[in-house]
Amino acid sequence: MALLRDSRHIGKIVITLDPAEPVPVRVPRPPVALDPEATYLVTGGLGGFGAATALWLARCGARRLALASRSGAAHPEAGAVLARIAEEGALATAYATDITDPEATRELVAAIDATGHPLRGVVNAAMVLDDVLDDATAVELDDERTHAVVSPKLDGTAHLDRLTRDRPLDFFVFYSSISALAGNLRQSIYAAGNLAGEAIIRRRRAAGLPGLAVQWCAISDTGYADRAGMVDTMRRAGFGELDSVTATRVLGELISDPDADVVMVGNTDWAQTAKLLPAVAAPRFTEMLPAPGAYPQDTDRNIPELVRSAAEPEALALVTEVLVSALAAVLHTAPERIDPDTRLDQLGLESLMAAELSSVLQRRLDCVVPTMELATAAGVRQLAPRLLGRVRRGV
Ligand SMILES: NC(=O)c1ccc[n+]([C@@H]2O[C@H](COP(=O)([O-])OP(=O)(O)OC[C@H]3O[C@@H](n4cnc5c(N)ncnc54)[C@H](OP(=O)(O)O)[C@@H]3O)[C@@H](O)[C@H]2O)c1
Repeated sequence: MALLRDSRHIGKIVITLDPAEPVPVRVPRPPVALDPEATYLVTGGLGGFGAATALWLARCGARRLALASRSGAAHPEAGAVLARIAEEGALATAYATDITDPEATRELVAAIDATGHPLRGVVNAAMVLDDVLDDATAVELDDERTHAVVSPKLDGTAHLDRLTRDRPLDFFVFYSSISALAGNLRQSIYAAGNLAGEAIIRRRRAAGLPGLAVQWCAISDTGYADRAGMVDTMRRAGFGELDSVTATRVLGELISDPDADVVMVGNTDWAQTAKLLPAVAAPRFTEMLPAPGAYPQDTDRNIPELVRSAAEPEALALVTEVLVSALAAVLHTAPERIDPDTRLDQLGLESLMAAELSSVLQRRLDCVVPTMELATAAGVRQLAPRLLGRVRRGV
């Protein structure tokens, strides 16, 4: 009814009385079986979380790893990464390849073929996300900045997909981000790039090919979030902590799970996250969120009692605050956008909304406000004193 009322639906709405589907609990699976004669490619694998992934592959039994990034062996972390993988008994080779370039990517795959150890798995962990881009809202972006962030995700994944379609692969993994799922105002192009990569994974799956996209939360011990000192902020925002060892262990379970295609992995406190990211309040997150305290400030404060014991100006301010916040919630807008002198119907309050507002006000102010009175009210400034009188009289 809420959807219908706000005209947020497309086409028909089907109401079923089926019990809610339980969120599936994934049973841990054995780590993925890797071919010691094959090569596994990790793009973005010479540093950060990509390097942690390469190390994990070596620990899982991969003996040959191709690690590609634009700077290749000159990547600041490359020396340490290759040495660490050698300690696991595997041979990692650094390739200087820009995967947004189709010809360079073709040469990379040809160079792997030339080793005689066929390519059997791909992880695309390449990304570009500099501080300037991270801070830009969509309107501040231009083509060049957009392309820099989207291309390693979209073009890079598309080239790798095209070049490996006719090969038997153990896995084809794309590293996405929670920002693709929950959105983030200042990461719109990063989210877009990740969604584009996920679309390629879905297309692979539809064609019967291996494909997995993982929407990671912030990784706490390596990679961009760690480098940029964002981990604390992310934890406070409800994203929890996910270290690279835990993350790659889950990756192993997902790779060997035939049902996993696009999966979010994180230790997320969704109720907390929803306060920060408005998109998390969308209906598709319903199963993840605790039963809502539906309206802002719907706390256990006894408002009628506070109103009755306060002096006139404070009492009026309190009633006005309750009225404005409830009205804003019903109208899906911010309280500061409610003009106190505009008729409620001109603010967009139609009959179903008025009924909802009436019931909220009854619950919070313990007084009856007929729907018609709301629908015809001249504005918050005119309505609030009337409500105050009723709260005081307890009617
Ligand atoms: N770290 C996190 O918290 C986090 C959270 C969610 C998702 N992820 C995902 O996990 C992946 C790795 O993240 P990270 O934090 O480890 O990032 P990172 O440390 O910035 O590493 C990204 C790597 O990608 C390489 N790269 C960039 N453009 C490339 C291109 N065109 N061709 C080849 N390589 C390229 C870079 O090396 P060069 O400069 O040498 O090219 C860099 O080493 C990303 O896909 C990211 O979206 C990470």
